Amino acid sequence: MSMPVRSAKMSVASVSHVEGRFIVFEGGEGVGKSMQMKHMAARLRRGGIEVIETREPGGTPFAEGCRELLLKHGDLSQDVEFLLLLAARRDHVERVIKPALRRGAWVLSDRFMDSSFVYQNQYPGGVSIEVQHQTHLIWMPAGAWPNWTFVLDVDPEIALIRRRREGNVNRFDEKPMAFHERVRSAYTDIAARMAHHTLIDASGPLERVEAAILMRFLHQFPELKPLHLHKLDGVEDA
Ligand code: TYD
Repeated sequence: MSMPVRSAKMSVASVSHVEGRFIVFEGGEGVGKSMQMKHMAARLRRGGIEVIETREPGGTPFAEGCRELLLKHGDLSQDVEFLLLLAARRDHVERVIKPALRRGAWVLSDRFMDSSFVYQNQYPGGVSIEVQHQTHLIWMPAGAWPNWTFVLDVDPEIALIRRRREGNVNRFDEKPMAFHERVRSAYTDIAARMAHHTLIDASGPLERVEAAILMRFLHQFPELKPLHLHKLDGVEDA
């Protein structure tokens, strides 16, 4: 899913000081994270930054194959799902994320390890956050942990209506509402407990959510301020 580098409208000289960063967009089904990520990527490109847009599970041919397996097999245990996703993530990190960060690109990912913390730890017998965290410490290189994660939050009733309207439903969407409520509260908990996370109220209009993300973004990465990203309106559709 890597995208070509877009030429800068603004001075690239000011960009050369900006280091690569890894930003993740998380949340339950239908919260609008993919759209928000796309808009942020377009905005950064307009500022002259090289941006890689990617997703999990996925991002490499092997990991996209794992995604198909995960979405197809509804009868996998949570630990088998976790191991599959870990293999996919390891491949994704080694082949896409690490090389991009090393050359100074910004990597934006639609989901990453928090998704496993939430979805593979849903029922008794799930893989606890502690075990998952330890496993990630072993298999994920230190330089490839997210610099910041935006957790988008919407009432799942509303999110699922959005999702059905888009006609973009998978086996996770079809789970009972109690599942989606648990997903929401697990994400809220992660956002509150973990460093480098911001919970975003994503229930309002798209532009308001985008403005909230951008504000936090600029606060977190002040090196971007000279690019005047907030003035780059008319974010294009992909
Ligand atoms: P997708 O259609 O991309 O859902 P969304 O648009 O909501 O991101 O499907 C990905 C599904 O994979 C999603 O329902 C959550 C699940 N998933 C996990 O269970 N564990 C993980 O670690 C990841 C990355 C995703």
